[in-house]
This record gives sequence, structure tokens and C-alpha cells, in this order.
Amino acid sequence: MTVAIEMGQTTAGAAAAMDLEELLATRLLVQGNSGSGKSHLLRRLLEQSAPWVQQAVIDPEGDFVTLAERFGHLVIEAEDHTERGLQVAGERARLHRVSTVLNLEGLDAENQMRRAAAFLGGLFDVDRDHWYPMLVVVDEAQLFAPAVAGEVSDEARKLSLGAMTNLMCRGRKRGLAGIIATQRLAKLAKNVAAEASNFLMGRTFLDIDMARAADLLGMERRQAEAFRDLERGQFMALGPALSRRPLRLNIGPTDTHARNSTPRLMPMPEALEDMRAVILAAPPPDASRPQRRPAPDLLEQLRAAKAAAPEIEPVVAEVTVSAEEVAERRERVDRTLRAVLAAPDAGFRAIGVLYQEFVVRCRIEGLGAAVPDLNDFRRMLTHARAGLGADIADDDAWQEVTLRASILPDDMQGVFMMIARAAKEAWPCPGDAAIARAYGSHSLRRAQRLLGYMEEQGLIVCQLDGAGRRIVTLVELAWATAPGDPNADDIPAEPSAASV
Ligand SMILES: Nc1ncnc2c1ncn2[C@@H]1O[C@H](COP(=O)(O)OP(=O)(O)O)[C@@H](O)[C@H]1O
Ligand SMILES: [Mg+2]
Repeated sequence: MTVAIEMGQTTAGAAAAMDLEELLATRLLVQGNSGSGKSHLLRRLLEQSAPWVQQAVIDPEGDFVTLAERFGHLVIEAEDHTERGLQVAGERARLHRVSTVLNLEGLDAENQMRRAAAFLGGLFDVDRDHWYPMLVVVDEAQLFAPAVAGEVSDEARKLSLGAMTNLMCRGRKRGLAGIIATQRLAKLAKNVAAEASNFLMGRTFLDIDMARAADLLGMERRQAEAFRDLERGQFMALGPALSRRPLRLNIGPTDTHARNSTPRLMPMPEALEDMRAVILAAPPPDASRPQRRPAPDLLEQLRAAKAAAPEIEPVVAEVTVSAEEVAERRERVDRTLRAVLAAPDAGFRAIGVLYQEFVVRCRIEGLGAAVPDLNDFRRMLTHARAGLGADIADDDAWQEVTLRASILPDDMQGVFMMIARAAKEAWPCPGDAAIARAYGSHSLRRAQRLLGYMEEQGLIVCQLDGAGRRIVTLVELAWATAPGDPNADDIPAEPSAASV
């Protein structure tokens, strides 16, 4: 599957597309003087790709917080959190695949650097199980990867430059695609700029920036003179995700707008009558500094954002269908899923591969228009792998389990539900092999880590009895599994449940 992001039009009027998968692999550098339209360009890119890929925006000016309303991004006010808090937030955002905007507005340079570094560090350091592709957009990147030491402490500069270098040089393997914008190429650390293979060059005046741009693009300096003539919103595109030859394009419009866009001229108001009295009145008593809001609970926010996220899937034409038709389709979709999972190695195949096969079978079944998207498929698979049938959905206590499961990343939910089911029915606790399998993995260590993670999240308590058998108790619901041998062979708790 290739996803083409439409950035705008070439000067000849053709659609100018960017290949998203290629972009993920080859990164992007945007440069242009202040007012050339870089932030607008980034916004266009973020809006167009939002339905397809997780995003994080490092936003020094609070320009991008307006993405939240329309696209469900979680806005993190960097001011309200410690570095440690932001690092953990970065990890969790990755774990839960929540798109975020890190608003650094109002912080001094030192703190902008430190907090951006902490958050980027969290994205970067997450366990390899969660290396899903993700766009990481850094606006005004010269603030975070300055070419020369500025007024900030050496430590802050080192942290921030290190995080940016990691993002651009080592992020790819971890699924992180760096997209950086700068108004002054000459002010951006060379090693950070050098890792991008795609360029969008906007209006540039200073010779030194033009020379750097020409070097990066492998152009004659004379040719780079053309950057002077670009208009606002016009960029020269070059790179594997864009165009093989320098291509001039106009960036298209955006759905959302910066909260604080360029100030516009407004007619002057009527002259103020008592201007001396109004402007020079005695200042109010020096009130103690305004109370700071308590730091919002990030996990709560993540949960809420996650719940809101599915609403931004690409718009599909609505067709009215009767309830019976829906039920009948559902049943056929379920049947198709069972068929896909019946293959002996289905438990260990990559989700993308399973989904491909599922889509093909759905088409053969005549379900073309009703094929669940990848996200729905992931959820269905989670349930199916955990051995849950349709009957369980009506159970009240079970609703509680589903609610609790929702704080876990999608791919862990099935495992949690499998254990919850065993606890509810007082079946023996599933062994490590069964848990790993429900997670789509062969790794017993991973199964153990999963249980550890759920315990840390306060969902379960694991205990061993005298004979080394494991008992898992669900917190609050107080259902407990019967003791089960962690090393038991891969026998599902209830044999018939294995067939979905
Ligand atoms: N392609 C475009 N179409 C319409 N308006 C644009 C376009 N590019 C930029 N603008 C407008 O021009 C102004 C400056 O753009 P901005 O993206 O903030 O510049 P930069 O980030 O490079 O300083 C903003 O008000 C923005 O809305
Ligand atoms: Mg800008």
C-alpha cells in the first residue's frame, strides 16, 4: 500500500504528492525565512497524514495546539510537567499510539531544550515491541539543534542536540521519521540537517543559508539564487518521497489554523478620552503570583485522547443498512476472521500479513464495502486470539473488564481479557506460552514482561503458590484464577475457546 499525501500543486497545476512510506524512511528538512510558510506547510502535512500515521509535534510557539480539536491530538503543556514526567509521557504516547503536540510556548530557551529532549527521549527509548512508524515534527529546529553554543547551559544544549541527533540519525530503525523545519539553515547543526534526504526549500534571503541549501541539494550556488524569488507558500521540492528533480510547488490550504497567526492591520480605535488617567493609573497591589494549575493527570488525558482518536478515520460515504443486514455482515466478517486464524501458523504471523489475507477473503465473500479497517481488525484479532466468543459481550461484570482493559495498548488488551476470563471462571492461570501466543509472540520472556506491566498498571496481582503455580487476581473485581503452571504447555484454558 502506498499512501500519497497531497501537499499542493506544482506551478504547472499538477497535484504535488508526497509518498508517506518513503517519507517515513527518508525524513524531511524544510527551510525558509520567517513568514515563508514553513509552519503552514507542516500543518498541511500533519493534517493530510493524520488518518494514516501517529504524530508528535515539538511546537516551540504553540502554533499547532489547534490540531487537537479537529484531529484529536493530545496537547501537552510542557510548562506543567517535569522532564521526567515528559519522558514518561513520550513513552506512553508511543505505547498507546496517541498523537501529541508538545507545547513549549512560554518557556525560556534552556527549558524548551531540556523538556523537548526529555519528551523525544521517551519516544526514542520505548521498548522495541512498540516501534510503530511515527512522524516526529520539529518546528524551528535550530532552537533544539543549534550549530553553535548560545546562552543556554552546556548541559541543556547537549541533551537537546543529543535527542535531535538520535531522532534524525538513529530514529529510523525505531520507526521515528524526523521532519524538521528551520528558518536559518546556517544556524542548524550540520549533522542533524545532513540526515534528511527530502527537502522543501522556501524563500531564503541570506547568502550563507542559500549556500548551505545549495550544498545540501547538490545544486550550483547560482541555481540556488532561485530561492530568493519564491513567494510565501512556495517551495522547491527534492527527494525520494517528493520528486527526483527540483520541483517548484505551492502548498495547498489547511483545515485548521494557527491560534496566533500573523497579526493583521486593524483600523485604529477612536482616540481614548482619558488616556493619561487610564494608562498611567496606579498599578494594582502586587498580588502574589497567580496560582499555578495543578499538573493534569497525563494518563487520564491519554485515555481520553485515545477514546477520541478513532473518530478521525478517513471519511467514508454513508450508506444506510438495516440492523439485520449489519448483524448478518458481522457474522460473515467473523466467519472470515475465523478462517484466516485457522491456519496453523496464524498466531505468529505479522498483523499486516493477516490483514492482507483477511481483506482478500472478505472481497471474495462479497464484503468489499464492509471490510473493517486495520484498527478494527486489530481489535477483532485481539479478542479472537484471547479466545473470547461473542456471548461474553452482554455480561455486566465483563463490561467492567473491558473498561479496565482500555488503559492498555490495543495489542495487550486481548491478553488481559484472556486472563480476566480465566479469573472469572476460576480456570487455571494460563501458562507463559499461552499468554505469549495470545500476544502473537513466541517469546516467554515477553509474556512475563506483559504480566509485569499489567501489574504495574494496577490491573492485576500475580502470586505464586507453594508449588510454584501462578495465581492472578484482578484488582477490585477480586476474581482470581485457579493456580496454573507458568511452564504449562500451550493448552488454552478452555479447549473450545481456542477456535474463536
Ligand atoms: N500556502 C499557503 N497558503 C495560504 N497561506 C499561507 C501559506 N503559507 C503560509 N501562509 C500564511 O502566511 C503566514 C506565514 O506563514 P507561516 O507558516 O507561519 O510561516 P513560517 O512558519 O515560515 O514563519 C501565515 O499567516 C500563514 O497562514
Ligand atoms: Mg513558523
